[in-house]
Amino acid sequence: MFIPFFFILLYNRDRVGISAFIAPCDFFFPDANAGSGRSDAADWIRTAYHDMATHNVNDGTGGLDASIRFAEEQSRPENIGDGFINNTINVLGANRYVSIADTIALAAVMAFENCGGPEISYRGGRVDADGPNTPGVPEPQDSLDSHIAAFARQGFTQTEMISLVACGHSFGGVQHSLFPDVVPDLNDTTNRLSVQHFDSTFVTFDNKVASEYIAGTTGNPLVVGLNDTKNSDKRIFGSDGNATMLSFANSPELFASTCASLIARMVDTVPRGVELTEIITPLPFKPANLQLILDGDNMVFTGDFRVWNTTDTSLVVMMLYDDHAGATHNTTLAPRRLGTSFAINARYGAAWYGLDSFTFDGVAGIKNMRFSVNGKLEDQDGIGFAVQDSVLFSQSSCLFSPHPVSARIDIAVRNGVNPSRIYLEHATTDSTGRPTVIETDIAPPTQPIAANSAYSIWSHNLTDNLFYTIGAEINGAKISTWANNAGIFHSCPT
Ligand code: HEM
Ligand SMILES: *[C@@H]1O[C@H](CO)[C@@H](O)[C@H](O)[C@H]1NC(C)=O
Ligand SMILES: *[C@@H]1O[C@H](CO)[C@@H](O)[C@H](O)[C@H]1NC(C)=O
Ligand SMILES: *[C@@H]1O[C@H](CO)[C@@H](O)[C@H](O)[C@H]1NC(C)=O
Ligand SMILES: *[C@@H]1O[C@H](CO)[C@@H](O)[C@H](O)[C@H]1NC(C)=O
Ligand SMILES: *[C@@H]1O[C@H](CO)[C@@H](O)[C@H](O)[C@H]1NC(C)=O
Ligand SMILES: *[C@@H]1O[C@H](CO)[C@@H](O)[C@H](O)[C@H]1NC(C)=O
Ligand SMILES: *[C@@H]1O[C@H](CO)[C@@H](O)[C@H](O)[C@H]1NC(C)=O
Repeated sequence: MFIPFFFILLYNRDRVGISAFIAPCDFFFPDANAGSGRSDAADWIRTAYHDMATHNVNDGTGGLDASIRFAEEQSRPENIGDGFINNTINVLGANRYVSIADTIALAAVMAFENCGGPEISYRGGRVDADGPNTPGVPEPQDSLDSHIAAFARQGFTQTEMISLVACGHSFGGVQHSLFPDVVPDLNDTTNRLSVQHFDSTFVTFDNKVASEYIAGTTGNPLVVGLNDTKNSDKRIFGSDGNATMLSFANSPELFASTCASLIARMVDTVPRGVELTEIITPLPFKPANLQLILDGDNMVFTGDFRVWNTTDTSLVVMMLYDDHAGATHNTTLAPRRLGTSFAINARYGAAWYGLDSFTFDGVAGIKNMRFSVNGKLEDQDGIGFAVQDSVLFSQSSCLFSPHPVSARIDIAVRNGVNPSRIYLEHATTDSTGRPTVIETDIAPPTQPIAANSAYSIWSHNLTDNLFYTIGAEINGAKISTWANNAGIFHSCPT
């Protein structure tokens, strides 16, 4: 069945976000009918490698920096195929918080983890290139010496080359349409795109790429392909007398742990000067999509939360929150269950819940929140979850006319905060496709307008669209609201 993209992303919380594209693991967008022979999981892994493979350890250039998105790189013979954009970068959803390169790395890690592979450490912080990198992806007709040299330039030894190729080639295969001299027309209705797979389990991570090779039963088209000049896996796998491949064939555990470490290194290979974060692990309990709105004397709080690795469908959630006067309040939230997303191998599941909005004292405000989930405190080991209520969308904002857009956005600013700037944020992309935020400063009010005893209003007329978040600079630090408020403008009183 064809599942439209927007439906997956917006409504089907059982397959949240990009995980929808690799669950099941033979899903191939946009041809979602099983039996295409291709998979998004394989394309995501190949994309991460091809993006990284331009790295040069000597001069620090290239690496995982999303330079693969440039048409010039894609048009190179070394990047043959169409797996880099439409079912990859275009669906991964980079945004102002997550670079394109970070989404490519995350997608490769998720493909392994979701499709039978080991857990792989993930770091963030990759920076998107502003142009193509120097060519450098190995091609199957290249000599063994040239492959060894290419991997050395990328920062990998010969043994690591054998291993990394085996890890990647646990997924996917070679397409007849791209390599007709390697793969014949398979004429197979269960493999419509005629992809000869590297092993018999092409959407599952396992050591069959090694065990079938060692047993001599492999169908790997880069080992037994029709054009021997292009049998690069045969030359690479055999280059140490089969020692590495034999060790993987004998030990699925060794293969998995080797791939976990090498794939992490692959996605962490970045241009010199880029600093990656510490390893990021999922929070056990994560508030998401939070929105705080000032409505006269009240604040209205809405949001979702995600509970990691649970199958519990009957959570009782209490939110505890501190106000500006130092008092702690609590409210029992009524979670509406949105769905669960489970890995195919069921190592983890995540349950998503939506909160009914709740209203509290908009003068006392909110500084910090904690949650009690079935009686267990979720407070990030005492840190809690900080909430900014310095600058908020005010429900007094209103729409004069939808077409053409004419509206007044009212921004509630907490008295005493004294921002040096308030601005509207428009999330967009620059000329090279990188996510960026355009800031439009708002003039301070000529005379104070009180929203309530704790907040004043800054107003600005909108004439282009309503899709803005609100930003402010306070003591040199930037803060911003999360949601654009396009949907909640009331009509202006006439
Ligand atoms: C000497 C090094 C390598 C060579 C010559 C090579 C060559 C190839 C070729 C010719 C294809 C077929 C592409 C197509 O028909 O769509 C392919 C597919 C693939 N490669 Fe490699 N590869 C190498 C290393 C790697 C590495 C290091 C990884 C990842 C760690 C990797 C991951 C993949 C994946 C996942 C596919 C399947 C793509 C799909 O089915 O859509 N390759 N490779
Ligand atoms: C990607 O999608 C666009 C828009 O549908 C289409 O024009 C283009 O040909 C596609 N590119 C590839 C490589 O399939
Ligand atoms: C095999 O590949 C080599 C290297 O690309 C090429 O020169 C040759 O023409 C190919 N052979 C056939 C039969 O297509
Ligand atoms: C593919 O299979 C069909 C039906 O069996 C047959 O008529 C056709 O000749 C085959 N084509 C090739 C290229 O093998
Ligand atoms: C590696 O193993 C394969 C499969 O058993 C065999 O065909 C090949 O000759 C071996 N290569 C080396 C270098 O020993
Ligand atoms: C996930 O939950 C299962 C079942 O409760 C538990 O056995 C497992 O240890 C948990 N895994 C992690 C990484 O927390
Ligand atoms: C929640 O608030 C009520 C009323 O203020 C208080 O009696 C109760 O002890 C609080 N519960 C918790 C768990 O803090
Ligand atoms: C905003 O637009 C309204 C309606 O057109 C108008 O009455 C008001 O004067 C405008 N305010 C500013 C500051 O331009």
